[in-house]
Amino acid sequence: MKVLSVASEIAPLIKTGGLADVAGALPAALKDLGVEMRSLVPGYPSVLSALGDGTQIMTDGDLFGGPAQVLFGQAEGLDLYVLDAAHLFYRDGGPYAAPDGYDWWDNPQRFAALCWMAARLCNEGHLHGWQPDVLQAHDWQGGLAPVYMQRLGASHKVGSVMSIHNIAFTGSAGADMIASLRLPAEGYNAGGFEFYGRISALKAGIAYADKVNTVSPTYAEELKTEGFGMGFDGTLRYKGKDFVGILNGIDTEAWNPANDPEIATYKTLPGKGKARAALIEEMELAPEGGPICVVVSRLTEQKGLDLLLHALPDLIERDGRLVLLGSGDPWLEGQFAEAAVANPGKVAVRIGYNEPLSHRIIAGGDAILVPSRFEPCGLTQLYGLRYGTVPVVAQTGGLADTVIPHTVATRTANVATGIQFAPNSVQALQEAIGQLCDLWAEPKVFQQMQRNGMKFPVGWDTSAAAYAALFAEAAKHP
Ligand code: ADP
Ligand code: GLC
Repeated sequence: MKVLSVASEIAPLIKTGGLADVAGALPAALKDLGVEMRSLVPGYPSVLSALGDGTQIMTDGDLFGGPAQVLFGQAEGLDLYVLDAAHLFYRDGGPYAAPDGYDWWDNPQRFAALCWMAARLCNEGHLHGWQPDVLQAHDWQGGLAPVYMQRLGASHKVGSVMSIHNIAFTGSAGADMIASLRLPAEGYNAGGFEFYGRISALKAGIAYADKVNTVSPTYAEELKTEGFGMGFDGTLRYKGKDFVGILNGIDTEAWNPANDPEIATYKTLPGKGKARAALIEEMELAPEGGPICVVVSRLTEQKGLDLLLHALPDLIERDGRLVLLGSGDPWLEGQFAEAAVANPGKVAVRIGYNEPLSHRIIAGGDAILVPSRFEPCGLTQLYGLRYGTVPVVAQTGGLADTVIPHTVATRTANVATGIQFAPNSVQALQEAIGQLCDLWAEPKVFQQMQRNGMKFPVGWDTSAAAYAALFAEAAKHP
């Protein structure tokens, strides 16, 4: 089975969040299951330089305003088709936003171009020796591919799967762009790519793909409700059995406390002490006290970290400490930076994106806080489990699916791995922090949770099999 994955970011080449991790991990996870995956990604400067000399597969004289070619080659163990279109992707700044922080004005065209070439690869694959059976589109940036596949005829033989990592990003464009985005006018309706009077690339993907999935079973259920569906709930309910949730895994080699170049490594809980001591030193934390709570996150409304700002005095009152690494919303960045200044030895904050530091922080913490308002899956609580850093999470999406909450029953059965709280409120988070501090005061119980977490499976085994089955269902031939 050959699967063409279309993604706007892929780790370790280009990453803003978990989407990159998943797009980067799936090819290796699926390999042993007989799924051969290649990934089509934009030719950002970092991707082109990692690719080096690729083989030219396709050209286009005028791809949304300029010449383009698709190059094939390998980088970081990934089989890549790279869309080299300098007028769209060869720019300073992030994958979606200019250096000033504003989205690129031509994002609709940029990712339409990616999808157009994806559809052509599906249509013309036989011409260059690699014919995909299924296309997997990640998030709105891949959403137009199933529409173009239909338009170019590829969908007769190639199945399609739309994978939703985050419903909040809709891929919106004005309805006046239907023709310039090469979309079929007849698709502009409630059952097609129309969404509240505009074009939505995500809606296109959901409506046109043979199968749709999101990244945890609970988020799949939540998305079918008005409260979480952000306007897509009806469309997703309509998909019926063709819409499923498949839990993300993590790269258990990159995130392995027994073999992590960033830390004094450990295989069992007692060994974690050194990583913890190193974090206390690096962050200039008070050497003694309550639990060291850590956060590694984008600072956006989704992540609920404004709740943590309000609950922070409770943590400090219980002698707890906080280490936060993140970037995003300038207001949140400022508030956490101020909290650090106001609470030396208790609160340490690093604003920015720093992968090596994220390993040291997650290894050195006692607990990892993830108070998200919604969380399709979430990866940092999984890193926490693997490193013996107890997750304290909102009871939503993939957080609810991956953390076994401490209750009377799970304590008796010795299976708890963390703490969950609901509803998503300051008060509930305060109570969860209180529960954490209470458990911290019972070292035997706390350590049992840490050990349970370290044993919990967080890799791709089960989910890779679920993807393989979904791709097989989507394929147009047995
Ligand atoms: P999302 O994709 O919504 O941001 P996930 O938990 O799925 O949430 O994935 C986030 C990924 O980005 C994780 O691999 C996490 O470690 C990483 N990450 C987020 N913020 C930072 C940061 N400031 N520095 C380093 N890594 C970060
Ligand atoms: C999104 C979600 C996150 C998920 C990631 C990878 O960015 O916010 O919960 O883990 O995609 O699927």
